[in-house]
Amino acid sequence: MDPDRVRREQDHFDKVAEAEGYSWWGAGTPAGKLRTERRSALVRDALGPDPRKLVLEIGCGSGEMTPHLAGHFRLVVGIDVSLGLLKRFRQRLGGQAAGVLADGERLPFRPGTFDAVCGNNILHHLELDRILPVCARQLKSGGRLAFAEPNLLNPQNWIENRITFVRRLRPYSPDEMPFTRWHIVRKLKEHGFRDARARPFDFLHPSTPDRLIPAVSAFGRFLERMPLTGEIAGSMIISAVKI
Ligand SMILES: C[S@@+](CC[C@H](N)C(=O)[O-])C[C@H]1O[C@@H](n2cnc3c(N)ncnc32)[C@H](O)[C@@H]1O
Repeated sequence: MDPDRVRREQDHFDKVAEAEGYSWWGAGTPAGKLRTERRSALVRDALGPDPRKLVLEIGCGSGEMTPHLAGHFRLVVGIDVSLGLLKRFRQRLGGQAAGVLADGERLPFRPGTFDAVCGNNILHHLELDRILPVCARQLKSGGRLAFAEPNLLNPQNWIENRITFVRRLRPYSPDEMPFTRWHIVRKLKEHGFRDARARPFDFLHPSTPDRLIPAVSAFGRFLERMPLTGEIAGSMIISAVKI
């Protein structure tokens, strides 16, 4: 990856670590925590929990997803470029998972080291044509990949990311950009994966007031099952298998 881009991500997330104590602005709200729990469960199920599996988590940040994975696998190794966030990760996870300071594209591991590769809100911070070959290289043959990412077709995501003056008002890093499910499935196929899938889900916004969470969650799950509204859910669960 462009070294300037890595530096911009580092600077951005070191500041986020200081200001928020979390990797993203909504992670600490009750609705934000529920979102993370659901995303993590979907990622965990897509990877196939197994106490023999070694898992690589790219862009682990402050470890919002990691506690939901640790304990279901032999070891989760989280990597991130932000030292500020990795310090939070290590405080939070203790010995439950390993946290390594590294750029996703320059990993200090031998090819074929991992049984599974995953992440939460990270692929859209990276260049897919560079990070997907790294994921393929790090995985054993038949190894599984799973990521939870924002869905570009969600109206809020689209407006906040594609309309320049709105984007400037949001706490986004300079280079991040969500994508559509068709785009990521095509890229996964191009980069040596089979059974590539991406399914939109989740209408629960992190700022949903506590008392409305049950109703918004139930209505959101209804909308997810409908053909048109299902396409514009806020997030996507992405999965694939290395050929
Ligand atoms: C939106 S945060 C998500 C963090 C975490 N996965 C979570 O769920 O809270 C994106 C993360 O990607 C990390 N990141 C950005 N570029 C990276 C790169 N080239 N290699 C590794 N991590 C990177 C950032 O430091 C940040 O922690």
